[in-house]
Order: sequence, then structure tokens, then C-alpha cells
Amino acid sequence: MLNLGVLCSGSGTNLQAILDACANQSLDAQVKLVLCNKPGASALERALRAGVPSQVLSHKDIPSREEYDARLVTLLQEYQVDTVVLAGFLRIVTPVLLDAFPDRVINIHPALLPSFPGLDGQQQALNYGVVLTGCTVHLVDAGMDTGPILAQAAVPIFEEDDRETLVQRVLRQEHRLLVEVLRWFAEKRIKITRIDGKRPRIYVQGRPRAFWSNDR
Ligand code: GRF
Repeated sequence: MLNLGVLCSGSGTNLQAILDACANQSLDAQVKLVLCNKPGASALERALRAGVPSQVLSHKDIPSREEYDARLVTLLQEYQVDTVVLAGFLRIVTPVLLDAFPDRVINIHPALLPSFPGLDGQQQALNYGVVLTGCTVHLVDAGMDTGPILAQAAVPIFEEDDRETLVQRVLRQEHRLLVEVLRWFAEKRIKITRIDGKRPRIYVQGRPRAFWSNDR
């Protein structure tokens, strides 16, 4: 059973996908704590409705990133979290958090990395004119959306798309992909090997890591 800490900044639909999968037992996990850097984020209401503890840690009160992450770590450890999910958490994390949860900080990004890292991957994809984008679940490292890729789902872009239609199409895949990857952690299917100077290699036992959708 995974003990999850979910970090959010906004609407929390990925959090909701995790809460639903825990509730219907399709994921062997429990959300121990939802942490939000913005007071009033809908993610907090979702936690409340699911009966899951939540806390707000405003970055405005703690200007140093390291100090902020140290406070995050204290809270996550207090709630016995073993796996941290950044689910729409719009902050760069530091080694203070990463070293406390080695290979156990997971991010969902709304583009096919390494394309379109950073903010608004969907708008970046539209601006570039690609006809295929998607989402990526990856381990977090000290860079911006640079960590080892666990799984990706491809999503087509249609001529009539605007940011909102694309955001929704990608989000539907995010919800599926994030829960699927968490299942792999729960089932201990993920192996990570490191050779000096090379990117870490990920192996997932018995499961495909690439997905695509023709969903409109
Ligand atoms: C998602 O698109 C996620 O990939 C990005 O921020 C968005 C968060 O959405 N990092 P939600 O808060 O889970 O609804």
C-alpha cells in the first residue's frame, strides 16, 4: 500500500483521479496528506470531501525555496508519506525535498517531454503547431521537467482545437496515466538503474509504458 502525499496548486482534477482510484480500490494506496501552496484552491475542497487531511503552506510566507521544502518534508514525514505526487504543483522543488524521498517524487506534465517543458505545455504545443502532444509522468530531479520518464500518453491535436479543448483532452489522459503509474509503484514493478554519467534507465515489469488516444 502506498502512502501518498499529493501537492497541488489549483483545481486538483489529478488529485481527484487518485482519490477516486483509492476509493474504488483500483489503486492500492491512501492519500495521507494534500498540501497546497495556494489558499482557496479547489484541491482543498476535494480533500475535504474525501475525508483526507490537507494543509496550506503558502510560498508567500516562506521566501526561501529550501526553507519551504524543509517545511514540506516535515509535514509529509509527520503524515508518514512514502511517495510524493506533484499534481499540478506550480513550484520548482529543491534537493531538500528530493533527498528526503529518493526516486519517490513523481510529476505529471501536460506535454510529451522533452518537448514543451515549463508552464502551459498545451499552449506551447498549439503555438508550435505540432499535431501530436500528450502527457508525461516522470520522476522529479533538480531540473525543470527533466527527470527520468516513467510513462507517456500521446494525444492528437485537431485544427479546430483551442487551448481549452486541448487542455481537457490532455487532462483525460493525465488522469489515467498518473493512476496507472502509481499502480506500478504500488505493485513494485519499477526498477531504476544508474550508470555514471548517463540518464537513469527505467524498467517497468510486465506493463507497456506508451499510450495513445484518438479521443476528441
Ligand atoms: C495539469 O495539466 C498538470 O499536468 C499540470 O497542471 C495541471 C493541473 O491540473 N502540471 P489539476 O490541478 O490536476 O486539475
